[in-house]
Amino acid sequence: MAIERVGVVGCGLMGSGIAQVAAQAGFSVTIREVTPELLEKGLKSIEKNLARLVEKSALNSTEREQIRGRLRGTTRLEDLAGCDLIIEAIVEHVPAKKELFAALDKLCGPATLFATNTSSCSVTEVATATARRSRFFGLHFFNPVPVMKLVEVVRTIESDAATYEELTRFAERLGKTPVRTSDRTGFIVNRLLVPYLLDAIRTFEEGLGTIPDIDNSMKLGCGYPMGPFTLLDFVGLDTTYYIANIMFEEFKEPRFAPPPLLKRMVLAGWNGRKSGRGFYDYSDPQNPTPLL
Ligand code: CAA
Ligand code: NAD
Repeated sequence: MAIERVGVVGCGLMGSGIAQVAAQAGFSVTIREVTPELLEKGLKSIEKNLARLVEKSALNSTEREQIRGRLRGTTRLEDLAGCDLIIEAIVEHVPAKKELFAALDKLCGPATLFATNTSSCSVTEVATATARRSRFFGLHFFNPVPVMKLVEVVRTIESDAATYEELTRFAERLGKTPVRTSDRTGFIVNRLLVPYLLDAIRTFEEGLGTIPDIDNSMKLGCGYPMGPFTLLDFVGLDTTYYIANIMFEEFKEPRFAPPPLLKRMVLAGWNGRKSGRGFYDYSDPQNPTPLL
């Protein structure tokens, strides 16, 4: 079965980017959020990105209209019933993902493929909420989705091999480079990236340097595009905290444990760039200032 109609659940940082690239690649996309306000916020970020592409002449205005025409926002889960593939990008919490997929499983026909954009939850575990475990995969995009080329395509021990290949081709049709991997917590990238980000927080807690100095050290010393604190704020401190807890629970290794400062920042609602404050204050987004 060819994938034509794509459903995305969650119009936050990742879902909005996934919906944008799918609509740009010619798919008909329906994206679902929980409230009209959050939907509006996510759709605005897509509009902003498309406007930037028109400014740069990477798109003309007719193409922008066509992309807009392929993209539909909704707050009704039922509107995803006719999709060929549904990609979930909601909060990094297994019970929330299972509840969503159990509801989708009842709404959608047996041919619909399900994929989770989870960073660290077990794909096998989330799939148990459905009666289509062999047609359930991980499709792990990277932030910002319109820019980052990689997609980790994740199979479980229950995955159907032909459908897995079809999903890998779907990632290519989006203009992305797929890597094949299996359902091990954090897959490839987060297995390596998350301990580094958590170590940066520990480095700061131990007084080795200021936040801008540690950021600049990794940018200027190692050529990373962003320092670790800028990246933590960019990913979202809440999301990083959930990921760290899930990885620590899985591996029981201290390097995955969330540092106390991260926990306290999340408790205080400092979730990074998306909430206006994290390791930096984003009141002036062009000129973030360190908060700690
Ligand atoms: N959405 C869409 N496009 C964006 C964007 C966004 N949020 N931010 C930047 N861009 C585009 C810009 O328009 C620009 O495009 P052109 O080159 O065509 O003009 C391009 O990206 C470069 O942007 P800038 O020149 O403004 O800034 P930059 O050179 O610093 O690049 C960046 C920005 C691409 C985000 C770069 O800083 C970067 O690669 N940072 C690291 C990002 C990263 O590591 N992501 C992975 C996070 S981990 C993850 O996603 C997995 C997980 O499970 C947590
Ligand atoms: P986010 O907080 O920006 O967005 C999540 C959105 O999902 C919110 O707007 C929320 O209202 C919405 N939502 C929650 N329950 C919903 C439901 N039942 N139906 C529809 N919408 C619902 O989070 P994010 O950063 O976009 O992360 C989403 C997922 O992607 C997580 O599993 C995360 O681990 C993963 N991920 C995140 C990144 C990153 O850098 N932030 C990278 C790769 C993967």
